[in-house]
Amino acid sequence: MSLAGKRILLVISGGIAAYKSLDLIRRLRERGAEVRPVMTAGAREFVTPLAVGALSSGHVYTDLFSREDEQDVGHIRLARDCDLIVVAPATADLMAKMANGLADDLASTVLLATDQPVLVAPAMNPKMWSHAATRRNVETLRRDGLAFVGPNAGEMAEGGEAGLGRMAEPLEIVAAAEDLLDGGRKPLAGRRAVVTSGPTHEPIDPVRYIANRSSGRQGHAIAAALAKLGADVTLVSGPVTLPDPRGVKVIRVERAEEMLAAVLGALPADIAVMVAAVADWRVATANTEKIKKKPGEGPPPLMLAENPDILKTIGHHEKRPKVVVGFAAETQDVEDNGRVKLQKKGADLIVANDVSPETGIMGGTRNSVKLITAAGIEEWPDLSKDEVAGRLAGWIAERLS
Ligand code: C5P
Repeated sequence: MSLAGKRILLVISGGIAAYKSLDLIRRLRERGAEVRPVMTAGAREFVTPLAVGALSSGHVYTDLFSREDEQDVGHIRLARDCDLIVVAPATADLMAKMANGLADDLASTVLLATDQPVLVAPAMNPKMWSHAATRRNVETLRRDGLAFVGPNAGEMAEGGEAGLGRMAEPLEIVAAAEDLLDGGRKPLAGRRAVVTSGPTHEPIDPVRYIANRSSGRQGHAIAAALAKLGADVTLVSGPVTLPDPRGVKVIRVERAEEMLAAVLGALPADIAVMVAAVADWRVATANTEKIKKKPGEGPPPLMLAENPDILKTIGHHEKRPKVVVGFAAETQDVEDNGRVKLQKKGADLIVANDVSPETGIMGGTRNSVKLITAAGIEEWPDLSKDEVAGRLAGWIAERLS
Protein backbone atom coordinates (compact mmCIF):
# COMPACT_ATOMS: atom_id res chain seq x y z
CA MET A 1 0.00 0.00 0.00
CA SER A 2 2.62 2.47 -1.16
CA LEU A 3 0.10 5.33 -1.41
CA ALA A 4 -1.74 4.56 1.80
CA GLY A 5 -3.72 7.55 3.02
CA LYS A 6 -2.57 9.81 0.16
CA ARG A 7 -5.26 12.07 -1.26
CA ILE A 8 -4.94 12.36 -5.00
CA LEU A 9 -6.97 14.77 -7.06
CA LEU A 10 -7.21 13.28 -10.54
CA VAL A 11 -7.95 15.80 -13.27
CA ILE A 12 -9.22 14.07 -16.41
CA SER A 13 -9.30 16.17 -19.57
CA GLY A 14 -10.80 15.40 -22.94
CA GLY A 15 -8.73 12.95 -24.90
CA ILE A 16 -9.29 9.39 -26.01
CA ALA A 17 -6.71 8.35 -23.38
CA ALA A 18 -9.36 9.22 -20.77
CA TYR A 19 -10.40 5.57 -20.91
CA LYS A 20 -7.03 4.69 -19.35
CA SER A 21 -7.84 6.98 -16.42
CA LEU A 22 -10.43 4.46 -15.30
CA ASP A 23 -7.67 1.90 -14.87
CA LEU A 24 -5.47 4.56 -13.27
CA ILE A 25 -8.11 5.18 -10.59
CA ARG A 26 -8.19 1.45 -9.84
CA ARG A 27 -4.38 1.23 -9.63
CA LEU A 28 -4.11 4.25 -7.34
CA ARG A 29 -6.79 2.92 -5.02
CA GLU A 30 -5.20 -0.54 -4.92
CA ARG A 31 -2.19 1.18 -3.40
CA GLY A 32 -4.26 2.84 -0.71
CA ALA A 33 -4.79 6.27 -2.26
CA GLU A 34 -8.05 8.15 -1.99
CA VAL A 35 -8.94 9.48 -5.46
CA ARG A 36 -11.09 12.55 -6.07
CA PRO A 37 -11.82 12.97 -9.76
CA VAL A 38 -12.35 16.28 -11.58
CA MET A 39 -13.55 15.98 -15.17
CA THR A 40 -13.53 18.62 -17.90
CA ALA A 41 -16.43 18.89 -20.33
CA GLY A 42 -14.19 17.27 -22.96
CA ALA A 43 -13.42 14.31 -20.69
CA ARG A 44 -17.15 13.71 -20.26
CA GLU A 45 -17.42 13.18 -24.03
CA PHE A 46 -15.07 10.20 -23.72
CA VAL A 47 -15.96 8.58 -20.38
CA THR A 48 -18.98 9.15 -18.18
CA PRO A 49 -18.93 10.58 -14.67
CA LEU A 50 -20.94 7.50 -13.72
CA ALA A 51 -18.05 5.18 -14.64
CA VAL A 52 -15.46 7.44 -13.01
CA GLY A 53 -17.60 7.77 -9.86
CA ALA A 54 -18.16 4.02 -9.67
CA LEU A 55 -14.43 3.35 -9.75
CA SER A 56 -13.42 6.14 -7.40
CA SER A 57 -16.36 5.46 -5.05
CA GLY A 58 -17.14 9.08 -4.50
CA HIS A 59 -18.33 12.31 -5.96
CA VAL A 60 -17.07 13.37 -9.37
CA TYR A 61 -16.43 17.10 -9.65
CA THR A 62 -17.28 18.66 -13.00
CA ASP A 63 -18.64 22.14 -12.63
CA LEU A 64 -17.06 25.38 -11.48
CA PHE A 65 -20.42 26.98 -10.94
CA SER A 66 -22.23 24.04 -9.35
CA ARG A 67 -23.87 25.02 -6.09
CA GLU A 68 -23.80 21.44 -4.94
CA ASP A 69 -20.04 21.02 -5.59
CA GLU A 70 -19.23 24.38 -4.06
CA GLN A 71 -21.21 23.50 -0.92
CA ASP A 72 -19.52 20.13 -0.75
CA VAL A 73 -15.89 21.29 -0.74
CA GLY A 74 -15.54 24.36 -2.96
CA HIS A 75 -12.93 24.70 -5.67
CA ILE A 76 -10.26 26.26 -3.48
CA ARG A 77 -10.42 23.48 -0.90
CA LEU A 78 -10.55 20.93 -3.70
CA ALA A 79 -7.27 22.42 -4.95
CA ARG A 80 -5.58 22.32 -1.56
CA ASP A 81 -7.05 19.33 0.32
CA CYS A 82 -4.94 16.80 -1.49
CA ASP A 83 -1.35 15.56 -1.42
CA LEU A 84 -0.93 15.50 -5.18
CA ILE A 85 -2.79 16.50 -8.32
CA VAL A 86 -2.44 14.12 -11.25
CA VAL A 87 -3.56 15.42 -14.66
CA ALA A 88 -4.19 12.36 -16.84
CA PRO A 89 -4.74 12.68 -19.66
CA ALA A 90 -3.48 16.25 -20.04
CA THR A 91 -4.54 17.57 -23.43
CA ALA A 92 -2.59 20.20 -25.36
CA ASP A 93 -5.46 22.59 -24.66
CA LEU A 94 -5.42 22.07 -20.89
CA MET A 95 -1.62 22.44 -20.78
CA ALA A 96 -1.88 25.68 -22.76
CA LYS A 97 -4.37 26.98 -20.22
CA MET A 98 -2.19 25.88 -17.30
CA ALA A 99 0.91 27.49 -18.81
CA ASN A 100 -0.95 30.76 -19.19
CA GLY A 101 -2.83 30.74 -15.91
CA LEU A 102 -6.29 30.53 -17.45
CA ALA A 103 -9.08 29.42 -15.15
CA ASP A 104 -12.35 29.14 -17.05
CA ASP A 105 -13.56 25.77 -15.80
CA LEU A 106 -13.21 23.69 -12.66
CA ALA A 107 -10.11 21.74 -13.79
CA SER A 108 -8.09 24.80 -14.83
CA THR A 109 -9.23 26.78 -11.78
CA VAL A 110 -8.18 24.01 -9.41
CA LEU A 111 -4.80 23.80 -11.15
CA LEU A 112 -4.30 27.55 -10.78
CA ALA A 113 -5.42 27.60 -7.14
CA THR A 114 -3.33 24.71 -5.89
CA ASP A 115 -0.12 24.87 -3.90
CA GLN A 116 0.34 21.10 -4.02
CA PRO A 117 2.64 19.15 -6.37
CA VAL A 118 1.22 18.48 -9.82
CA LEU A 119 2.04 15.51 -12.05
CA VAL A 120 1.11 15.88 -15.71
CA ALA A 121 0.58 12.93 -18.07
CA PRO A 122 0.20 14.46 -21.53
CA ALA A 123 -1.69 12.68 -24.28
CA MET A 124 -2.18 14.05 -27.75
CA ASN A 125 -1.47 13.61 -31.42
CA PRO A 126 2.32 13.60 -32.10
CA LYS A 127 2.05 16.71 -34.29
CA MET A 128 0.36 18.58 -31.46
CA TRP A 129 3.02 17.38 -28.99
CA SER A 130 5.88 18.54 -31.24
CA HIS A 131 4.24 21.87 -32.16
CA ALA A 132 6.27 24.89 -31.06
CA ALA A 133 3.35 26.17 -28.97
CA THR A 134 3.13 22.92 -26.97
CA ARG A 135 6.92 22.81 -26.57
CA ARG A 136 6.79 26.33 -25.11
CA ASN A 137 3.94 25.44 -22.79
CA VAL A 138 5.66 22.29 -21.52
CA GLU A 139 8.85 24.26 -20.91
CA THR A 140 6.89 26.89 -18.96
CA LEU A 141 5.15 24.25 -16.86
CA ARG A 142 8.43 22.48 -16.11
CA ARG A 143 9.94 25.80 -15.06
CA ASP A 144 6.92 26.37 -12.84
CA GLY A 145 7.88 23.16 -11.04
CA LEU A 146 5.29 20.74 -12.46
CA ALA A 147 6.40 17.15 -12.98
CA PHE A 148 5.78 15.18 -16.16
CA VAL A 149 5.37 11.50 -16.94
CA GLY A 150 5.37 10.54 -20.62
CA PRO A 151 4.17 10.91 -23.25
CA ASN A 152 5.44 7.67 -24.76
CA ALA A 153 6.15 6.78 -28.33
CA GLY A 154 3.76 4.43 -30.04
CA GLU A 155 0.66 4.16 -32.10
CA MET A 156 -2.15 6.51 -31.18
CA ALA A 157 -5.53 5.13 -30.19
CA GLU A 158 -7.07 7.17 -32.98
CA GLY A 159 -5.96 7.24 -36.59
CA GLY A 160 -3.03 4.81 -36.41
CA GLU A 161 -0.54 7.71 -36.41
CA ALA A 162 2.75 6.92 -34.66
CA GLY A 163 5.14 9.13 -32.69
CA LEU A 164 5.45 10.74 -29.25
CA GLY A 165 2.08 11.54 -27.74
CA ARG A 166 0.67 8.37 -26.22
CA MET A 167 -0.24 8.79 -22.57
CA ALA A 168 2.06 6.99 -20.12
CA GLU A 169 0.62 3.68 -18.93
CA PRO A 170 -1.35 3.78 -15.65
CA LEU A 171 1.38 1.89 -13.79
CA GLU A 172 4.02 4.38 -15.00
CA ILE A 173 1.83 7.21 -13.74
CA VAL A 174 1.42 5.42 -10.41
CA ALA A 175 5.21 5.01 -10.14
CA ALA A 176 5.77 8.71 -10.89
CA ALA A 177 3.14 9.63 -8.27
CA GLU A 178 4.87 7.39 -5.73
CA ASP A 179 8.20 9.05 -6.51
CA LEU A 180 6.75 12.51 -6.04
CA LEU A 181 5.00 11.64 -2.79
CA ASP A 182 7.63 9.51 -1.19
CA GLY A 183 9.13 12.21 1.00
CA GLY A 184 10.75 9.52 3.12
CA ARG A 185 13.03 8.59 0.27
CA LYS A 186 14.00 12.17 -0.41
CA PRO A 187 17.48 12.86 0.92
CA LEU A 188 16.63 16.21 2.54
CA ALA A 189 13.28 15.21 4.07
CA GLY A 190 13.04 16.60 7.60
CA ARG A 191 15.83 19.15 6.99
CA ARG A 192 15.28 22.89 7.25
CA ALA A 193 16.99 25.28 4.87
CA VAL A 194 17.22 29.04 4.58
CA VAL A 195 18.22 30.60 1.27
CA THR A 196 18.76 34.26 0.38
CA SER A 197 18.29 35.48 -3.16
CA GLY A 198 18.18 38.60 -5.31
CA PRO A 199 19.59 42.04 -4.71
CA THR A 200 18.84 44.36 -1.82
CA HIS A 201 17.52 47.87 -2.28
CA GLU A 202 19.04 50.41 0.05
CA PRO A 203 16.96 53.58 0.14
CA ILE A 204 18.49 56.99 -0.49
CA ASP A 205 15.13 58.67 -0.03
CA PRO A 206 11.52 57.45 -0.49
CA VAL A 207 11.92 57.19 -4.30
CA ARG A 208 15.60 56.40 -4.91
CA TYR A 209 17.70 53.44 -3.88
CA ILE A 210 21.07 51.74 -4.36
CA ALA A 211 20.76 48.33 -6.00
CA ASN A 212 22.66 45.84 -8.17
CA ARG A 213 22.04 43.64 -11.20
CA SER A 214 21.22 40.39 -9.38
CA SER A 215 18.10 38.75 -10.88
CA GLY A 216 17.57 36.19 -8.10
CA ARG A 217 17.54 33.36 -10.67
CA GLN A 218 20.31 31.35 -9.03
CA GLY A 219 19.02 31.76 -5.47
CA HIS A 220 15.43 30.95 -6.42
CA ALA A 221 16.59 27.88 -8.36
CA ILE A 222 18.54 26.67 -5.32
CA ALA A 223 15.53 27.11 -3.04
CA ALA A 224 13.43 25.09 -5.51
CA ALA A 225 16.11 22.39 -5.84
CA LEU A 226 16.42 21.97 -2.05
CA ALA A 227 12.62 21.72 -1.75
CA LYS A 228 12.60 19.11 -4.50
CA LEU A 229 14.92 16.98 -2.39
CA GLY A 230 12.44 17.24 0.46
CA ALA A 231 13.85 20.14 2.51
CA ASP A 232 11.56 22.58 4.31
CA VAL A 233 12.83 25.79 2.67
CA THR A 234 12.50 29.44 3.65
CA LEU A 235 13.56 31.74 0.84
CA VAL A 236 14.39 35.28 1.90
CA SER A 237 14.27 37.30 -1.28
CA GLY A 238 15.18 40.84 -2.14
CA PRO A 239 13.13 42.63 -4.84
CA VAL A 240 12.95 40.37 -7.94
CA THR A 241 10.47 39.85 -10.76
CA LEU A 242 10.55 36.05 -10.50
CA PRO A 243 7.57 33.93 -9.45
CA ASP A 244 7.79 32.20 -6.06
CA PRO A 245 9.26 28.69 -6.40
CA ARG A 246 6.76 25.94 -5.62
CA GLY A 247 6.66 24.44 -2.18
CA VAL A 248 8.91 27.11 -0.65
CA LYS A 249 8.06 29.66 2.04
CA VAL A 250 8.99 33.07 0.66
CA ILE A 251 9.76 36.13 2.79
CA ARG A 252 10.16 39.31 0.78
CA VAL A 253 12.47 42.02 2.00
CA GLU A 254 14.10 45.12 0.58
CA ARG A 255 17.06 46.13 2.73
CA ALA A 256 20.04 44.09 3.98
CA GLU A 257 19.06 44.70 7.59
CA GLU A 258 15.58 43.28 6.90
CA MET A 259 17.17 40.31 5.13
CA LEU A 260 19.38 39.56 8.13
CA ALA A 261 16.40 39.72 10.51
CA ALA A 262 14.40 37.33 8.30
CA VAL A 263 17.32 34.89 8.04
CA LEU A 264 17.85 34.90 11.82
CA GLY A 265 14.11 34.35 12.21
CA ALA A 266 14.38 31.22 10.05
CA LEU A 267 16.91 29.60 12.42
CA PRO A 268 17.40 26.91 13.58
CA ALA A 269 18.12 25.37 10.21
CA ASP A 270 20.34 22.57 8.91
CA ILE A 271 21.30 24.38 5.72
CA ALA A 272 22.00 28.03 4.88
CA VAL A 273 22.70 29.05 1.30
CA MET A 274 23.38 32.75 1.05
CA VAL A 275 23.06 33.65 -2.62
CA ALA A 276 21.72 37.20 -2.38
CA ALA A 277 23.85 40.02 -3.71
CA VAL A 278 23.55 41.98 -0.51
CA ALA A 279 24.55 45.63 -0.82
CA ASP A 280 27.72 46.14 1.20
CA TRP A 281 26.72 49.67 2.07
CA ARG A 282 23.54 51.50 2.83
CA VAL A 283 22.95 55.23 2.99
CA ALA A 284 23.79 56.15 6.58
CA THR A 285 20.70 58.22 7.11
CA ALA A 286 18.16 57.73 4.36
CA ASN A 287 16.08 60.85 3.83
CA THR A 288 12.46 60.54 4.77
CA GLU A 289 11.57 63.20 2.14
CA LYS A 290 12.60 63.16 -1.51
CA ILE A 291 15.90 65.03 -1.89
CA LYS A 292 15.30 68.18 -3.94
CA LYS A 293 17.62 69.64 -6.55
CA LYS A 294 18.54 73.08 -5.32
CA PRO A 295 19.97 75.58 -7.82
CA GLY A 296 23.61 76.36 -7.14
CA GLU A 297 24.05 73.73 -4.41
CA GLY A 298 25.34 70.85 -6.59
CA PRO A 299 24.77 67.19 -5.82
CA PRO A 300 24.05 66.20 -2.22
CA PRO A 301 26.75 64.20 -0.40
CA LEU A 302 25.82 60.56 0.25
CA MET A 303 27.26 59.18 3.45
CA LEU A 304 27.41 55.38 3.42
CA ALA A 305 27.37 52.98 6.34
CA GLU A 306 28.38 49.32 6.29
CA ASN A 307 25.62 46.74 6.07
CA PRO A 308 25.64 43.63 8.23
CA ASP A 309 27.30 40.65 6.57
CA ILE A 310 24.56 38.05 6.68
CA LEU A 311 26.69 35.08 5.62
CA LYS A 312 29.40 35.93 8.15
CA THR A 313 26.82 36.37 10.91
CA ILE A 314 25.30 32.96 10.14
CA GLY A 315 28.73 31.31 9.71
CA HIS A 316 29.69 32.33 13.25
CA HIS A 317 26.29 32.11 14.91
CA GLU A 318 25.62 29.96 17.98
CA LYS A 319 22.81 28.35 15.96
CA ARG A 320 25.07 27.90 12.94
CA PRO A 321 23.46 25.50 10.45
CA LYS A 322 25.40 22.30 9.74
CA VAL A 323 26.04 23.32 6.15
CA VAL A 324 26.70 26.97 5.36
CA VAL A 325 27.19 27.91 1.72
CA GLY A 326 28.15 31.32 0.37
CA PHE A 327 28.59 32.70 -3.11
CA ALA A 328 31.43 34.85 -4.32
CA ALA A 329 30.67 36.98 -7.32
CA GLU A 330 34.04 38.26 -8.45
CA THR A 331 35.47 39.97 -11.48
CA GLN A 332 39.10 39.11 -10.66
CA ASP A 333 41.18 36.53 -8.73
CA VAL A 334 38.10 34.34 -8.37
CA GLU A 335 39.85 31.43 -6.64
CA ASP A 336 41.99 33.42 -4.20
CA ASN A 337 39.13 35.62 -3.18
CA GLY A 338 36.92 32.56 -2.76
CA ARG A 339 39.43 30.92 -0.42
CA VAL A 340 39.73 34.04 1.70
CA LYS A 341 35.95 34.31 1.87
CA LEU A 342 35.56 30.69 2.99
CA GLN A 343 37.70 31.44 6.03
CA LYS A 344 36.43 34.88 6.85
CA LYS A 345 32.76 34.04 6.56
CA GLY A 346 32.89 30.71 8.38
CA ALA A 347 31.38 28.88 5.40
CA ASP A 348 31.75 25.21 4.45
CA LEU A 349 31.59 26.00 0.78
CA ILE A 350 32.01 29.05 -1.38
CA VAL A 351 30.54 28.86 -4.85
CA ALA A 352 32.70 31.26 -6.79
CA ASN A 353 31.89 32.69 -10.17
CA ASP A 354 33.30 35.29 -12.48
CA VAL A 355 30.69 37.97 -13.02
CA SER A 356 32.69 40.13 -15.42
CA PRO A 357 30.15 41.72 -17.80
CA GLU A 358 31.37 39.62 -20.75
CA THR A 359 30.37 36.38 -18.96
CA GLY A 360 26.68 37.41 -18.94
CA ILE A 361 26.26 35.53 -15.64
CA MET A 362 24.83 38.40 -13.61
CA GLY A 363 21.19 38.56 -14.63
CA GLY A 364 21.61 35.71 -17.17
CA THR A 365 20.35 32.12 -17.12
CA ARG A 366 23.68 30.25 -17.16
CA ASN A 367 26.49 29.97 -14.66
CA SER A 368 29.94 28.47 -14.51
CA VAL A 369 31.16 28.01 -11.00
CA LYS A 370 34.05 26.77 -8.91
CA LEU A 371 33.38 25.05 -5.60
CA ILE A 372 35.85 26.10 -2.96
CA THR A 373 36.04 24.08 0.25
CA ALA A 374 38.74 23.46 2.84
CA ALA A 375 39.55 20.30 0.84
CA GLY A 376 40.25 22.11 -2.41
CA ILE A 377 38.65 23.43 -5.58
CA GLU A 378 36.24 21.69 -7.91
CA GLU A 379 35.31 23.29 -11.21
CA TRP A 380 31.92 22.64 -12.80
CA PRO A 381 31.30 23.06 -16.52
CA ASP A 382 29.08 25.80 -17.93
CA LEU A 383 25.55 24.88 -16.78
CA SER A 384 22.11 26.44 -16.59
CA LYS A 385 21.36 28.02 -13.22
CA ASP A 386 18.76 25.26 -12.66
CA GLU A 387 21.44 22.62 -13.25
CA VAL A 388 23.86 24.36 -10.87
CA ALA A 389 21.04 24.44 -8.30
CA GLY A 390 20.25 20.73 -8.73
CA ARG A 391 23.89 19.73 -8.40
CA LEU A 392 24.43 21.98 -5.42
CA ALA A 393 21.36 20.56 -3.64
CA GLY A 394 22.85 17.10 -4.27
CA TRP A 395 26.21 18.24 -2.89
CA ILE A 396 24.49 19.53 0.26
CA ALA A 397 22.46 16.32 0.71
CA GLU A 398 25.66 14.32 0.38
CA ARG A 399 27.42 16.46 2.95
CA LEU A 400 24.57 16.01 5.44
CA SER A 401 24.22 12.27 4.97
O1 C5P B 1 31.85 39.59 0.61
P1 C5P B 1 31.00 39.26 -0.56
O2 C5P B 1 29.84 40.19 -0.77
O3 C5P B 1 31.73 39.04 -1.85
O4 C5P B 1 30.43 37.82 -0.18
C1 C5P B 1 29.49 37.17 -0.94
C2 C5P B 1 28.76 36.20 -0.10
O5 C5P B 1 28.40 36.79 1.15
C3 C5P B 1 27.44 35.81 -0.72
O6 C5P B 1 27.14 34.50 -0.29
C4 C5P B 1 26.48 36.82 -0.15
O7 C5P B 1 25.16 36.33 -0.13
C5 C5P B 1 27.00 37.00 1.25
N1 C5P B 1 26.82 38.34 1.81
C6 C5P B 1 25.96 38.51 2.86
N2 C5P B 1 25.80 39.74 3.43
C7 C5P B 1 26.52 40.80 2.97
C8 C5P B 1 27.38 40.64 1.91
C9 C5P B 1 27.52 39.39 1.35
O8 C5P B 1 25.30 37.54 3.27
N3 C5P B 1 26.34 41.97 3.54
